[in-house]
Amino acid sequence: MSARNPLDVAAIVGSLRRESYTRRLVEGLARLTGDSMRIEIVEIRELGLYNQDDEEFPSPAWVAFRSRIKRADGVLFATPEYNRSMPACIKNAVDVGSRPRTESVWKGRPAAVISASPGTLGGFGANHQLRQALVGVGAPTMQAPEAYISGSNALFDAGGEFVNAATRELCERFVRSFETWVRQFADP
Ligand SMILES: Cc1cc2nc3c(=O)[nH]c(=O)nc-3n(C[C@H](O)[C@H](O)[C@H](O)COP(=O)(O)O)c2cc1C
Repeated sequence: MSARNPLDVAAIVGSLRRESYTRRLVEGLARLTGDSMRIEIVEIRELGLYNQDDEEFPSPAWVAFRSRIKRADGVLFATPEYNRSMPACIKNAVDVGSRPRTESVWKGRPAAVISASPGTLGGFGANHQLRQALVGVGAPTMQAPEAYISGSNALFDAGGEFVNAATRELCERFVRSFETWVRQFADP
């Protein structure tokens, strides 16, 4: 990977919902980055469920997704929580990117996980299940700051500003730390 300026960060959102709070959170994070990093949401709704039988002739959606991630300097995973786990769509994206095994798009690619929930636990369970999968696919994943964002349904005011100063401060620290993390893995 070569260090681009700005760094190119692909964001994967684990919700397909039109009014997704998690997606809004990622858009909020993107507004916090300086000129040195760009966060772009990579869509996963068209991927279709992973099926090994389809590897011989992978769908255009799989090919496009894999090549988009391979171009990225880093990957930001943002997940809500479904039944104390990560939603199927984001695990599916991890699976699609992980094959063919020798060409996994995740191996060595710096990543970070942020989770969000309208409830108080901030998607802790989903966050750690996703981290477990990222260990399995060899994506070096930022350890700190951990980010479990509660109250995801009420993060922003009408102007798109964080309502809560402490949440904003955590999110700022998160994106700054992620930039430092990604640069460690990029060629000079
Ligand atoms: C099938 C399903 C299971 C859910 N399970 C959890 C859960 O385990 N923990 C939690 O905090 N919220 C849970 N929720 C509520 C979600 O956090 C909430 O719907 C949230 O808005 C989803 O994220 P999004 O706004 O980005 O789509 C669940 C929602 C659905 C639809």
